[in-house]
Amino acid sequence: MKEIAERHSIRKYKADAVNKDDIKKIIEAGILAPSAKNRQPWKFFVVEGEAKEEALDVMEKGLTRSREELKGVPGIEALISDAFNTLRIMREAPVIIFVENTNGGAPFMDINVNERITEICDSLSIGAAIQNMLLAATELGYGTLWIANTFYAYQELAKFLGINGQLISAVALGVPDETPAPRPRKKFEEVVEFRSIH
Ligand SMILES: Cc1cc2nc3c(=O)[nH]c(=O)nc-3n(C[C@H](O)[C@H](O)[C@H](O)COP(=O)(O)O)c2cc1C
Repeated sequence: MKEIAERHSIRKYKADAVNKDDIKKIIEAGILAPSAKNRQPWKFFVVEGEAKEEALDVMEKGLTRSREELKGVPGIEALISDAFNTLRIMREAPVIIFVENTNGGAPFMDINVNERITEICDSLSIGAAIQNMLLAATELGYGTLWIANTFYAYQELAKFLGINGQLISAVALGVPDETPAPRPRKKFEEVVEFRSIH
């Protein structure tokens, strides 16, 4: 409960490196997550240093392409601007962990109902793994940001990383350089419905 309450998305990082053993511990926490049919449909790419700069240059190209390609789609400019802001944060973080759904496919493919159910279950499983990682990182004193804006540079990043499944997220990891206030949450009563027969 302590780490659950203390974790906040961190969008400012110090340049300090992250210890290799700590990165291992964080990913091992992810691997301990439950997964649908125990498929463990995840693969983690730890990207640092020049490799990180290269990956983020690739992401920038992808975001620029999306901005052009999606021009005119209602609300898209705000979404792409947000993605560029995420990219700026990722450049500051010393470590980016890209996460692949090894059982998935590119998000643009048509899939049938069974494939959709499988994809939802695999996404849930990977969500559990990522949350475990964020909590382990919090315990070790690191800050994290869970990132899905990678989707706006999907083709470029998937190709760069050599991903044949689905690039589902990235996690920025580093020593925090801010202590943000907790972001608002919906009220308990708003999101919970008790149904009991007396
Ligand atoms: C699936 C997912 C994707 C997210 N993608 C991004 C992102 O691309 N960029 C970003 O700045 N934050 C991203 N976030 C962070 C959320 O904005 C953040 O969790 C939310 O505002 C609540 O704030 P908190 O994490 O500090 O509690 C993402 C979070 C989740 C769970």
